[in-house]
Amino acid sequence: MNKKLSNNEIKTLPFMDSNLDLEKRVEDLLRRLTLKEKFTLCSGKRSFYTKPIKRLGIKSFKMTDGPHGIGPHSSNNAECTYFPTAICRTATWNPELSEQFGVALAQEVRDIEYHMILGPGVNIHRTPLCGRNFEYQTEDPYLNKKMAVPVVRGVQSQKIAACVKHYICNNQEINRFTVSSEVSERALQEIYLPAFEATVREADAWSFMGCYNKVNGIYGCEHKNLIKERLMEEWGFKGFVVSDWIATAKTTSTESCINAGLTLEMPMPIKYKKKKLNQALLEGKYTEETLNENIKRLLRIMFLTGLFDNENAIPPGSRNTPKHQALSRKIAEEGIVLLKNEDNLLPLNIDTFKKIKVIGPNADKEMGEGGGSSQVRPPYEITPLKGLKNKCRNKVQIVNSPSEADLVIIFAGLNHEKGMDSEDSDRDSFDLPSEQIELIKKTVQENPKTIVILISGSPINMVGWIENIPAVIEAWYAGQEAGNAIADILFGDVNPSGKLPITFPKKLSDSPAHVSTRTYPGNEKVYYDEGIFVGYRHFDTKNIEPLFPFGHGLSYTTFSYDNLKIDRKTISGDDKFTVSVDITNSGDRAGAEVVQLYVQDVECSVERPLKELKGFKKVQLDSGEKKTIVFELEKKDLSFFDEKTSCWKAENGSFNILVGSSSKDIHQKGEIEYIE
Ligand code: BGC
Repeated sequence: MNKKLSNNEIKTLPFMDSNLDLEKRVEDLLRRLTLKEKFTLCSGKRSFYTKPIKRLGIKSFKMTDGPHGIGPHSSNNAECTYFPTAICRTATWNPELSEQFGVALAQEVRDIEYHMILGPGVNIHRTPLCGRNFEYQTEDPYLNKKMAVPVVRGVQSQKIAACVKHYICNNQEINRFTVSSEVSERALQEIYLPAFEATVREADAWSFMGCYNKVNGIYGCEHKNLIKERLMEEWGFKGFVVSDWIATAKTTSTESCINAGLTLEMPMPIKYKKKKLNQALLEGKYTEETLNENIKRLLRIMFLTGLFDNENAIPPGSRNTPKHQALSRKIAEEGIVLLKNEDNLLPLNIDTFKKIKVIGPNADKEMGEGGGSSQVRPPYEITPLKGLKNKCRNKVQIVNSPSEADLVIIFAGLNHEKGMDSEDSDRDSFDLPSEQIELIKKTVQENPKTIVILISGSPINMVGWIENIPAVIEAWYAGQEAGNAIADILFGDVNPSGKLPITFPKKLSDSPAHVSTRTYPGNEKVYYDEGIFVGYRHFDTKNIEPLFPFGHGLSYTTFSYDNLKIDRKTISGDDKFTVSVDITNSGDRAGAEVVQLYVQDVECSVERPLKELKGFKKVQLDSGEKKTIVFELEKKDLSFFDEKTSCWKAENGSFNILVGSSSKDIHQKGEIEYIE
């Protein structure tokens, strides 16, 4: 069986025939593997590769970080396009951009001849302090899935595997290797699982990464219920699960991982050392059939990513192209959020402002190569200062003292150092570093025309200084073209259209995870006592005024909402209904609005959030232009997860349909009745 084959002999084997049915190729290759070779395939080597099996022409399957571009640490220092991080991309509320991003990311992966990108990261923002919030998308499960599914589709359209991570409830970095996230079934169903599930059901995700932490007492990589029962049996996942790097170290045993459905242990064998695998098999702790099932999943994805195919048969790669760089800039332009703009200070007129002072620690700071495993190394990075210089050329002098300037722009915020927006630690504080607070306060005293631009991946405490600052922008980590995008927005070449994918609280203790040390950071366990009341679901329902609500973002034009219509008065069973609303650009310049639809259950036998996002559309309108936006909804959009029956349930009665420009600015309202 394990005789050496020449390359020519290998070529004639059935599994090498790309015209053969995928499952037949998988079966054929599987039956040729010896037990030892199967063990070989269970774990990685050289940090990001699987081990090759030369006898059968199985090359290393190569994986690279991460969620906003190829990581140098996982690609022999490859330079790549630095795309805006997930929080910025999600703030575009533009799923089409997510898909284009997925395609471009995969093209870069193909260009370095790898097979899988370790992203997207779709963990929910549970606390503003999570060090990896910048890598994750949002606090809302609906927005999360709508922005994650197209990334996976885009990536996989190029025959590169996406790896959706970190499955699941890895919502903080403190104690990430040991903590158990204690979470209710309802919260899992309504908040934490939906994006993961949608990437399988709607985008056929080819890989998932098991998390470091425990979920209700069991480590993610040996969680049979999460992996085997839900992901595989319930959702129909046909790809493979890879451990987060060394996440298996603390799991119970070899067999618990095998039996849970963990195929690949990275970056090297710990639980999947050959000796251990053999011993556990001999002792009957798992069966070869179960092992085969795990291996088949990896082989399947090897075939799908073209590991055995001729180069001409797979989509070509490309990297650092002007097209990718333009996309990076476009995402930044659409993702940057104008938070505050008193007396329409912005946009700036380049002819009025002659002397601008640019200060702050982030004015000329490059952000690509930082933050942990999601770091990237772009060939260039336009910092905010460079972007302003590009824009203003010699029209505007950049001066030194605030008082002699017509305007001051402060680039404040965080960076990717430990204790800020960075992997493996959470933020030390909700506040800006004290020297930045002093700088802002002092500057605005000297010159009231002071604009603050925040660079960060999570909300920052602004109370105490924002009151005196006329204009504030959240620019996130907006990729290698960030500076150009910021300058375009400041001077009005681009009309801002980003909306917050998270709530910005006034103070940390307003935030649902910050009730006690039990709810954050916990110790051995962290209790998700807030249940489904995460993000705006909490602020809305508990009537806590946020600093900026979920969905908020200003524009240089204005939009009016009229004429909400629902095509039926009642629905039952699987009926669908449509909601239409007219949006008019009532201002004097073109712009895009994100029209948001929320559902409110008027009366319910269980506690429900005041409202929940169930639809959104980004619409581009010229000045004076009107468009009718149509949403289609169904019973599921009215439902909650009923823990008594373990089913989604809509109760008879009225539901309000709320349409607006943020979770707090509702402009139109309608009603529908559900009758079973
Ligand atoms: C991170 C993952 C990453 C992996 C490989 C881990 O520490 O949690 O997100 O993909 O390392 O670098």
